Amino acid sequence: MGHSKKQHKGSAGERFSSAGFILAAIGSAVGLGNMWKFPYITGQNGGAAFFLIFLAFLAIIGLPVLLAELTIGRGGRGDAAASFRNLSNRPFWHSIGLLLVLGSFFILTFYSVVAGWTIHYAVQSLGGELYRSADYGAVFERFTGGAMPVVWLVVVLAGTCWIVMRGVSGGIEKFNNVVIPGLFILLLLLMGYALTLPGAGAGIRFFLKPEFSELTVQSVLMALGQAFFSLSVGSGAMMTYGSYTDQRQSLGGAAIAIGSGNALYALMAGLIIFPTTFSFGIEPASGPGLVFIALPAAFSSMPFGSLFGGLFFVLLAIAALTSAVSLLEVPVAYAMNRWGRTRGKTAVAVTAACFAVALPCALSAGGVWSGVKAGGRTIFEWVDFITSNIMLPAGGLIITVFAGYVWDQAGKEAGLTAVWYRLWIVTLRYIAPVLILLIFLYSTGII
Ligand code: PFF
Repeated sequence: MGHSKKQHKGSAGERFSSAGFILAAIGSAVGLGNMWKFPYITGQNGGAAFFLIFLAFLAIIGLPVLLAELTIGRGGRGDAAASFRNLSNRPFWHSIGLLLVLGSFFILTFYSVVAGWTIHYAVQSLGGELYRSADYGAVFERFTGGAMPVVWLVVVLAGTCWIVMRGVSGGIEKFNNVVIPGLFILLLLLMGYALTLPGAGAGIRFFLKPEFSELTVQSVLMALGQAFFSLSVGSGAMMTYGSYTDQRQSLGGAAIAIGSGNALYALMAGLIIFPTTFSFGIEPASGPGLVFIALPAAFSSMPFGSLFGGLFFVLLAIAALTSAVSLLEVPVAYAMNRWGRTRGKTAVAVTAACFAVALPCALSAGGVWSGVKAGGRTIFEWVDFITSNIMLPAGGLIITVFAGYVWDQAGKEAGLTAVWYRLWIVTLRYIAPVLILLIFLYSTGII
């Protein structure tokens, strides 16, 4: 290939095993997006019809862009900025790639705040304290208004940093190898219990029986945005993980495994949440508070509710941590290459920087700074909005344009057969960019 490859310096030669890579990538994809965002967005957008559209977008747009991101990572063998430069030989692309590095850094800041909430709720539910008051809205407000979210934020960031410090195979791979199968077993158990609750059938119907008349243009675009967020594409996480894969790994096969793993977890999460809420007569469309406010009300009145609820929040916390690890790895890999320090020192420095931004996020989500608003949004809401609605779609667009138009060896690196290659390249060149632009215009309020 006619480009010079500058390998990762700080992480030279670090590699995932084949199965370890798939598990780590599923770990990145499965997270708060599947279990916290997805259920309430589905609830607000008519249930099953939304779920089907989400699945269709995952397959038609999400997978091709995911494959492109993995391919750029493995072909470029660098961090999310260096890979672009290595493949194009143009420093301009390095600066463009920086946008992805910044994207994952900033997603991590608000994501780790919500991850902290899930640990708090797990502890409180298992200990039973969560169920002392019947007003869960007030409980949530009191919690987010106090100091505990900051304590849990520190725990989440320290844990994430510790795993990333231990390296690609010794930290990230090992952690995912243990917790991803564990997560699956936990999901199965909870799903089995939720499906046998009295009245669960109404929840299953809501989630799986499509009512297309309830779909709006808005919900279609939301489904596309959610497919991207949920697959972790557009932020360099998959690119960075891709740079640690072996040349023999089939990237097309990997993309399909990651996509189906992610869809399966979303399906199972829905089959826990909707039967539970319907069984206790709770509105499924209750918004971001669904998981922290509506579900505890259901847990409080079911047999073994504090155990069931506690395990549910443990599940959420683990899923969030595996995603947080992938988010932190992106700026850490970049900073290692840029400043040439050890992985350990770099991880600590990046985590500290992340905490500096996450702290105002934590304090503005219900805490002392929740009154500080600009344009109607708190700091927390701004960081979520800018990263999820602007940086991720921009990252997705950069990836499709680069693999579709700039890097002419993408097809070779992806290793697709002729027919699949045609479909892939047509999607990358014409379909994905148009749809990404549409989500972008919609989610920023331009259309
Ligand atoms: N896919 C994760 C989720 O659904 O929770 C969120 C995420 C992780 C987005 C990593 C982007 C990323 F790079």
